[in-house]
Amino acid sequence: VSLDAANRAWMQGATYRSALKAGDVMAGGALAEVVESRAPGLTPGDLVFADTGWQEWAAVSARGLSPLPRLEPLTHLLSVFGVAGLTAYFGLLECGRPKAGETVVVSAAAGSVGTLVGQIAKIKGCKVVGVAGGAEKCALLTRELGFDAAVDYKAGDLRRALRATCPDGIDVYFDNVGGDVLEACLFNMNLHGRVACCGAVSQYDGAAPPHGPRGVPGLIVTKRLTLQGFVVMDFYAKRDAALAELKAWVDEGKLVVREDVLEGLEALPGALVGLLAGENIGKRMVRIA
Ligand SMILES: NC(=O)c1ccc[n+]([C@@H]2O[C@H](COP(=O)([O-])OP(=O)(O)OC[C@H]3O[C@@H](n4cnc5c(N)ncnc54)[C@H](OP(=O)(O)O)[C@@H]3O)[C@@H](O)[C@H]2O)c1
Repeated sequence: VSLDAANRAWMQGATYRSALKAGDVMAGGALAEVVESRAPGLTPGDLVFADTGWQEWAAVSARGLSPLPRLEPLTHLLSVFGVAGLTAYFGLLECGRPKAGETVVVSAAAGSVGTLVGQIAKIKGCKVVGVAGGAEKCALLTRELGFDAAVDYKAGDLRRALRATCPDGIDVYFDNVGGDVLEACLFNMNLHGRVACCGAVSQYDGAAPPHGPRGVPGLIVTKRLTLQGFVVMDFYAKRDAALAELKAWVDEGKLVVREDVLEGLEALPGALVGLLAGENIGKRMVRIA
């Protein structure tokens, strides 16, 4: 079962899917094996990505299933070759449109999407700065994942820290978190900068914040910024080509895949709480069967 920050957002209200209500099975995507099927083209033993929810067995409509190849390790089907990888790929390349030599900043940089965004931006020849919580995560980004620099957003004045770390300004900001981190990045954006609005994990857990990023609307005008929201499915027509390129980068050792696999159905609630608290490095998932 894939653990996603969005699991929490679905409990807050309607998003790109309808809101979860008390008493519903907790929703969530999973890598699953077909055990029984009356649908043409699906036979027992087939692997699929399915919205099974948090349960060991699920009866789901064949229409909502994506068949998957059997490759090793299977966990990559939920990380780099799953929603996380495609979100990083399309959000960065289609919305961020980075050019070699530009500065790219990504938040939740040690997470599932963030680790991949930073590495893809490096492959494209950019200077890459990650924003993450804590010195340990920041060290990992530069030491093991090839980021040029990392900034701990919990350590103080992020706007000032980004100014020091990105002396040429930010050309592309890949926003996974919204809120104060978005505000700090917007003030450091260059003329004609692009913001790929991927998610707002800082807003998913708890009451709505009292205000949004401050001083920003005028700044968007004068800097001629483009802020583009996207949902990964928007780009699924190009999915096969994207997966082929991601696979080549993994095979060539250019893309390091970090995964965080927990065990057992009982681990699921704690795994989501921990994800929102920043326990994970890379793609968090729970193996339940
Ligand atoms: N648009 C799409 O199609 C799409 C698809 C998939 C995911 N997403 C979005 O992508 C983002 C990343 O999701 P993910 O599932 O890959 O999770 P993730 O990045 O693996 O984990 C979430 C991370 O967010 C950080 N975080 C939590 N609260 C924060 C806060 N208040 N401020 C800053 N950072 C905070 C934590 O790291 P720290 O220790 O660094 O705080 C945590 O590890 C989410 O916003 C998600 O909704 C969007």
